[in-house]
Amino acid sequence: MMKQIQGFSKLSKQDKIEWLATHFFQNADLAKQTLMQYWNSNQQLQQLHDEFTENTISNLYIPFGVAPNFLIDGHFYSLPMAIEESSVVAAASNAAKFWQSRGGFKTEILGTEKVGQIHFTFNGQADFLFSQFNALRQSLIQTANEVSANMIKRGGGLTKIDLIDKTDALENYYQIHACFETLDAMGANYINSCLEAMAKLWEKEVNTALAKSTHKLEVVMSILSNYVPNCLVKAQVSCPVSALAEDQDKAKQYAQKFVQAVQIAQVEPYRAVTHNKGIMNGIDALVLATGNDFRAVEAGVHAYASRTGTYRSLSDARIENDEFIFEMSLPLALGTVGGLTKLHPLVKLALEMLGNPNAQELMRIAAVCGLAQNFAALNSLTTTGIQKGHMKMHLMNILNQFQATEEEKTTIAKMYENKTISHTEVVETLNAMRDAAN
Ligand code: MEV
Repeated sequence: MMKQIQGFSKLSKQDKIEWLATHFFQNADLAKQTLMQYWNSNQQLQQLHDEFTENTISNLYIPFGVAPNFLIDGHFYSLPMAIEESSVVAAASNAAKFWQSRGGFKTEILGTEKVGQIHFTFNGQADFLFSQFNALRQSLIQTANEVSANMIKRGGGLTKIDLIDKTDALENYYQIHACFETLDAMGANYINSCLEAMAKLWEKEVNTALAKSTHKLEVVMSILSNYVPNCLVKAQVSCPVSALAEDQDKAKQYAQKFVQAVQIAQVEPYRAVTHNKGIMNGIDALVLATGNDFRAVEAGVHAYASRTGTYRSLSDARIENDEFIFEMSLPLALGTVGGLTKLHPLVKLALEMLGNPNAQELMRIAAVCGLAQNFAALNSLTTTGIQKGHMKMHLMNILNQFQATEEEKTTIAKMYENKTISHTEVVETLNAMRDAAN
């Protein structure tokens, strides 16, 4: 059977499903039924989701959870988190509860600068290019300013442009490196529009000046960068070491081991990747729930974690004058206007749950969510081990996989209340229960 097709995007949704069901599934009816059971019964809402992207045939549900009791800069928040991984929301909630009685989370915005670049080649003298750039600088700025009067009116816009000679790295390669303030917008569309408008002018004007020469300037591409090392937010928790546990020896040991765990992630990339993945469990969940682009955030954050040339922990922990300090700075380019923010009903709800924050507030909240997640993971790893809590949350997934009844779930959950759970053991227990009942 031909598993390729022309004009798939032109087919109706129903025809797309028919084609897929007959070509890729043993049980075509079951495939159709599975896809269609996730359609929303509200047709208008379903159409909205269909139109977010192309070739939509169904919806993939991700749990929308909430981690309450986050005390951030003196205000309480309940954080919306869209994530499928068991125990992430519970871990965030536990960390929030722990720090709530120890002063809560403190945050600071260290910068909000976004970046875009026009990449081009030029086969002439660099001096000529730099003199052209100086002559055209004001026109380039003016061109960018014309892209959005609204952005300028509100205090945003292009803040800086530089011409950079990259010919050492790649033959004939130069770039215009541009910095932007995009206020409450993540800014991708705005930045790309500014760059494309400037690139057009730059290419045309320079090539006009080169008309009689054999040299030529060619724009390769104009695009924002998801690396935003100056769009930075810091989140911190701290408390006296003595406040970490009732038993003072235990409190000291706890703090020391915690600091060691972070130090390991600072010098050992294998550990650092998992350590930072744990941070991103929280950040991605909040970023997704608030309709932001988690791929952009992920790319920027991991690049930042490697900024010294070695991939390192994003967070840092230390003991200073008997004070336990745990903190993290990371780049987060987030928006609270544009994109899905006013379109997706659940995203709108998530933002309202957070008090309709501006972009800087959302950066603070997301950074805290990441730090809380990291705290919860290190807390488990350096004390009980991760599996105890993890498998407890995973227990329902195992039971659901084997279609356990409510009665079986309650009985087994009780049996494993204070035990470390293993997949095999749970399945054996369930089978034994079923054998005994027959
Ligand atoms: C699992 O999703 C995240 C952890 O592995 C993070 C960590 O090890 O720090 C628990």
